[in-house]
Amino acid sequence: SLQDYDHYMLKEIMEQPEAIKRTLKNRLAAGDVIIPEVEEFFKERQLTDIEKITIVGSGTSHHSGMIGKKILETMLDIPVEAAISSEFSCEHGHLNEKHLVIVMSQSGETADTISALKNAKKFGAPVIAITNYRKSTLGRKSDCLIYTHAGPELAVAATKAYTTQITALILLTIVLTKKLNGPGEDKIPVLLDALHSLADDVEKCLVMTQDAIDQFAQVTNDQGHLFLIGRGLDYVLALEGALKLQEVAYLHADAYAAGEMKHGTMALITPGVPVIALATQPHLRDKAINNIKEVKARDAYVVGVTTTGDDEVSAVVDEVLYIPEAHPFLMPILAAIPLQLLAYYAGTVRGYNVDRPRNLAKSLTVE
Ligand code: F6R
Repeated sequence: SLQDYDHYMLKEIMEQPEAIKRTLKNRLAAGDVIIPEVEEFFKERQLTDIEKITIVGSGTSHHSGMIGKKILETMLDIPVEAAISSEFSCEHGHLNEKHLVIVMSQSGETADTISALKNAKKFGAPVIAITNYRKSTLGRKSDCLIYTHAGPELAVAATKAYTTQITALILLTIVLTKKLNGPGEDKIPVLLDALHSLADDVEKCLVMTQDAIDQFAQVTNDQGHLFLIGRGLDYVLALEGALKLQEVAYLHADAYAAGEMKHGTMALITPGVPVIALATQPHLRDKAINNIKEVKARDAYVVGVTTTGDDEVSAVVDEVLYIPEAHPFLMPILAAIPLQLLAYYAGTVRGYNVDRPRNLAKSLTVE
């Protein structure tokens, strides 16, 4: 039921701390991660000789895949790529039994992703699915299913599906790093600690950003364009934020790798254009600040998203949104919260049906 909320989208955004707790439940133990389905999978197959991993998904599920790629590559000694389902299903590189394919899908019924899975299986590639529906086509046809436990997601826009997918991918990363003796093994204890406070941190993000985002959404009401910029994981987050704003607020929002603006897109920056600058990754922060200064020099109206107390970022932006500091891998989950809320408020202030955006369907069963 909708209980206290006007829309499913807001209800599902607010449910994220609980949804994430369910994703972690019975998997995140004191000093370890155990995913029984993955244990079974490894018993059945010799997977220690994996040479490549591809994470396949569509839309928001592709963005989770891109986050997963960056995280897995830091922890493992294996090349990892993230592919768009509809592209992977028509043209893909070498596929064989040493190539692990991970399919991401909330519904488990997206035709493009099912087609990608069939392709992978045709060449003998083992397939792990991360979905929110156990009995879905992808859940049934994969060799191993990691169920996200997000609970039903009724709004068309994916919100809790996205944050629980990333959470599940991080759990899988930890398991794979151990099984394949990845060079990131010594980074696991710190990551485990951070996962224990993830749900609380998400709750804090909701509380810390909701009012400010509601106000900023009113400001965007007379704007036709909005840019999101970021580097590394923040770039993927920018892509996800732009997609949400396009589908829910019908706002022409575009995401760019922050360092790429000067190679062309900067020509579109005129005084007052809203730019959301994501700066949540400590190792990329100085470069992110330089890129923020570049758009500020063209008089863009910049809203920075960074971790609490980072006054170097707050000094160069027009408005700052603080979120709690957590492990860098978890920041794409935390920083997604204000972007989801922005899409929600920007859609409602324009009077749109945010739960049922025009031209879209929850489950895409055609290719
Ligand atoms: C965006 C959105 C879509 C879906 C995409 C894949 O908010 O909801 O981009 O992420 O259609 O759907 P699933 O995850 O069900 O395969």
